[in-house]
Amino acid sequence: MILLSSCKKTEIGKCDDLQSLYSFSDFPIGFAIDMNELNNDSHYYEIAVSQFNSVTPGNIFKPYYLHPAESYFDWFEADRLVEFCQNNNKRLHGHTLIWHNQLPDWIMNFQGSQSEWELMFKEHIQTICLHFKGKVKSWDVVNEAINDNGTLRNTIWKQKIGNSYIEKAFRYAHEADPDAFLFYNDYDIALNETKRKAILSLLNNLRQRGVTVHGIGMQMHISVVHPENHQIAAALKELSENDFKIHLSEVDISLNPLSREFELTEELLERQANKLAAITLLYKEIPSRYQYGITFWGVSDRNSWIREHFNRDDYPLLFDDNYNPKPVYCKFKETL
Ligand code: XIL
Repeated sequence: MILLSSCKKTEIGKCDDLQSLYSFSDFPIGFAIDMNELNNDSHYYEIAVSQFNSVTPGNIFKPYYLHPAESYFDWFEADRLVEFCQNNNKRLHGHTLIWHNQLPDWIMNFQGSQSEWELMFKEHIQTICLHFKGKVKSWDVVNEAINDNGTLRNTIWKQKIGNSYIEKAFRYAHEADPDAFLFYNDYDIALNETKRKAILSLLNNLRQRGVTVHGIGMQMHISVVHPENHQIAAALKELSENDFKIHLSEVDISLNPLSREFELTEELLERQANKLAAITLLYKEIPSRYQYGITFWGVSDRNSWIREHFNRDDYPLLFDDNYNPKPVYCKFKETL
C-alpha cells in the first residue's frame, strides 16, 4: 500500500497499471520470463500478458536446461514459451547460445580434440537455432566473453576451441537462421570504458571479416548510483555510432548494491524512479533503428534473481512484492 500511494504522488494521469507499458512506447518493452511463475501465479501471468511485448527466457534457453545430455534436447518448456509468445503476440528474444555459466556436466566433462569440440559447439548452436527458426526473433549468441580489463575471458569454449569461438558462434547462428538478429550481450558496458572499447573492437573486427553481428545487449544490472548517467549516455552514443542495435537487455536497479543492512524508504524508491527515467530519456535519443528495446530482468521484487543470487535485501524491479506498481513503474510510463 505504501508503494501504491507513493506511486500516485508521482503520477500525471498515466500511472494506471491496467494500461500496457508497451502501449506508451515506440520500442519493445520486455521482461525475463520464469515459466514456473507464469504457470502458477495469476498476478504474474496478468502482468506478463498485459504489460510487456517482448520476452526473454530467464533460464530455460541456457544449455543446462535446453541441452542436458549430448544427444538430447529438452524442448518441452521452451516450446510452451514459444506458444505463449505466439498466442499473446510477444517478441521472443533467445538467451543465450554460448556462455561459460549454466553449462551441463556433459559439456564441462566433454572429451575430444579441438575439431570434436568445434563440431559439438556447432551442433549445439545450429540445432537450437533451427528448432526456433521463425519463432525466436533474435539471439544473444555469445554472453559475457570479455573480462573487466578488456581481455578475452578464459572460458571453456576459448580453452577448447580457441579465440575464434566467438566468430564461429556468430557464423554458425547466422547460417542456421539468417533472419534472426544476432547480439553480443555483456554487463558493465556503460560503467567500464575499457571493456566497452574491447567489445567494440572485437565486434568491429568480426564485421570486417564478414561476420554478421546486429547488436549489443547492455545488461544494465545497475544501482541508483552507478553507472552515472553521463557514462550511460556515452555508451549509447558510442554503440549506436558504431552501427549496433542496442538492447538494454537485463535491466534491474539495485537499491542495496553493497549488501548492507537495509531499510526501504520512499526516497530510495524515488531515486530508483529517477534513474530509470534518466536512462529512458537517453535511450529515446538514439535513432529508432538502434532501439531494440528495454528488457527488465524479472517482474516483481519478490522473484528478482538478485535476492537469491547475492543473498541480500533488495528491490530492483518495477513491481513490489505484492505485484503493485512501484514509483519506478509510474515514472517509467510517464517517460516513455
Ligand atoms: C541469472 C538468472 O536470472 C538466475 O535465475 C540464475 O540462477 C543465474 O542466471 N547475466 C545473465 C543472465 O546473462 O543469464 C543471468 O541470469 C543474470 C546475469
